[in-house]
Amino acid sequence: MKVVKLGLCGLGTVGSGVVNIFERNADLIRRRTGKRVVINHIGARSDSTQCDVANIKLSRDIFAVANDDDVDILIELIGGTTVAKDLVEAALKNGKHVVTANKALIAEHGDHLFKLAEECEVVLRYEAAVAGGIPIIKTLTEGLSANEIHSIVGIINGTGNFILSAMTNEGKTFESALAEAQRLGYAEADPTFDVEGIDAAHKLQILASLGFDKPFEFGSVSTEGISKITPADIEYAKELGYRIKHLGIARRRHHGFELRVHPALVPVKHSLANVDDALNAVFLYGDAVGGVLSVGAGAGSEPTASAVIADVVDIVKAGEAARVIRPKQTKGKVLPLEDAES
Ligand code: HSE
Repeated sequence: MKVVKLGLCGLGTVGSGVVNIFERNADLIRRRTGKRVVINHIGARSDSTQCDVANIKLSRDIFAVANDDDVDILIELIGGTTVAKDLVEAALKNGKHVVTANKALIAEHGDHLFKLAEECEVVLRYEAAVAGGIPIIKTLTEGLSANEIHSIVGIINGTGNFILSAMTNEGKTFESALAEAQRLGYAEADPTFDVEGIDAAHKLQILASLGFDKPFEFGSVSTEGISKITPADIEYAKELGYRIKHLGIARRRHHGFELRVHPALVPVKHSLANVDDALNAVFLYGDAVGGVLSVGAGAGSEPTASAVIADVVDIVKAGEAARVIRPKQTKGKVLPLEDAES
């Protein structure tokens, strides 16, 4: 039986989840792919106490993984857009498929990396970059491939949702809820990305590009975070029959597209109002199917690792037929907010 060898770069919350799932579910992954898939080489600056890697080759230099002839698929989980970009480029140029959970990298450099992957005849996949464990990219690009997508609306940052839920349901302060989200491994290395809406904007940009089949310029999402929400805001919203949720909204309009991320008042009876904790929920509206709501864990070790491994399984199963999932090349025109709302 052919062995498919993985290189794993980054052994934080998600990387540990990848190791643990591979150890637990190795047999079912072998049955589903028809191949033995093994983690052959790990690149990490420090050890992890959350998984056992005693029998796996370990390098402190992550580029050793990208240059290892005994790696077929490189999994990038180091985050950021500098070293991670160099690493992904090196792996693609060395003929390795790449799986990443890095939404900033895809939102900022997706076009360039997709092109490079195609030139190098390998595949770059990123299901885990959006909405953690929810297979939203697959739903959008495969499950709804017969539809013109009209809108994408969702809660797409687990940390922000965890904070707003804790403030609403438990009366916690913003600061203590954020500290708890960091302890649970939901928050980005720089939590500003979570609480100022940047992480959600990256994810919305990726979903909108795929859903509307148009790459959007980085920074095209009008963005407002949750850091200014006070307990008084939460209480007033409750009194009026609303919950405050941090939403990403992308809509097709007559003359272009509307892309925005901001806190919103959601009526308590709306299906998004009671999506709590670190859950994410994405409502897709297609012309044929109507509305499709996907809900699930939007952050955390094994939920995010689940999406990473799904990409690996897809690549292994597809073999030569594996392809890059990418939007078409015509750039999308984003409307100024005042025009979008009219
Ligand atoms: N920091 C991100 C979030 C992790 O809280 O949603 C998952 O992308």
